[in-house]
Amino acid sequence: MLETLKPQAADKILTLMAAYREDPRADKIDLGVGVYKDAEGRTPVMRAVKEAERRLVEQQDTKAYVGLLGDPAFTDAMRDLILGDAVPADRVSVAATPGGTGAIRQALELIKMAAPGATVWLSNPTWPNHPSIIKYLGMKSADYRYFDEATRNVDFDGMMADLDGIAKGDVVLLHGCCHNPTGANLTHEQWEKVADLLIAKGAIPFIDIAYQGFGDGLDEDAFGTRLIARRLPECLIAASCSKNFGIYRERTGVIMAISPEAGMKPVTQGTLAYLNRQNFSFPPDHGARVVTTILTDPELRADWMAELEETRNGMLALRQNLADELRQRSNSDRFDFIAGHRGMFSRLGATPEQVEKMRAENGIYMIGDSRINVAGLNAKTVPLLAQAILDAGV
Ligand code: LMR
Repeated sequence: MLETLKPQAADKILTLMAAYREDPRADKIDLGVGVYKDAEGRTPVMRAVKEAERRLVEQQDTKAYVGLLGDPAFTDAMRDLILGDAVPADRVSVAATPGGTGAIRQALELIKMAAPGATVWLSNPTWPNHPSIIKYLGMKSADYRYFDEATRNVDFDGMMADLDGIAKGDVVLLHGCCHNPTGANLTHEQWEKVADLLIAKGAIPFIDIAYQGFGDGLDEDAFGTRLIARRLPECLIAASCSKNFGIYRERTGVIMAISPEAGMKPVTQGTLAYLNRQNFSFPPDHGARVVTTILTDPELRADWMAELEETRNGMLALRQNLADELRQRSNSDRFDFIAGHRGMFSRLGATPEQVEKMRAENGIYMIGDSRINVAGLNAKTVPLLAQAILDAGV
């Protein structure tokens, strides 16, 4: 049997991680995978997470199964964190999942069950695992324009023109904030227009929100998600705790399915439980319990929010420093977009050859489409990257 298997195409982000690890150069710079790093290059365990874990070790007296949907205290807390009061709770079904990727997978499985013929529309570009999972599940997908290579900002006219071609019942995947890989995001007015169009077309929004709190703040980053959830009758949301709680390896996330009426919730929620049972049975609990402990304890929550703000402001400062450095060294404002982008990533607009040159000559690792992880920089490496970008001819 196993001899029939064919080699699978390698994931570009994970391949780059491995190449970086193997590079013997001491001064190499990792701007690849989307993992937060502090100025010393560490991915710290957040203070509130450490404290929540300490409490769990002391107080937890069983590791018995919880429930197929996860702990209701966790799913309630996540619903409130993401949606605020945008939608009545009796319309929102929530299930815990193994990370944001698990939530995306479950959402796609749900779409496949409920609307097998639907096309899932993806921003071009998007996180490479979106099309990869869709293809694996044998579903249909199409692209809508999103990024203007010239301005390095959102190509909103292109996006709206392409979404005008969607059919009733198609699914449109939107990044809730901090677009991955570009860093370019919709304005409030543009979110309103997207909502108008989706309503007019009878399309289903599917929001992937993996970086809440990394852009403009916890509530501000949820603006688009809340607006869509409030205005559209139905909505799917995949959310991750990997980044904003820094608990990547604990695999903590949720899928939310908002139904038009409360009466539909039992079946929708039952379907989420069924899908969890088929794919992995009970969702992981440790990260979820840490998140619940933090979100439901006022002191821990305040400390978590303060540390998240430090993280966010640190990334904003690095963006500004890089844009300033490039402005000074290039004597132009053509890299100012870096300061305007939000979240962990910016797409620089370098060619694959220029990206390769920076890797070979400067030991700078970024994704082949020139996505950089801003959090991989520090005060010392910002000037090195700026010079390498210019030397590569970007
Ligand atoms: C990324 O885009 O780098 C992160 O979402 C990590 C991953 O799993 O790809």
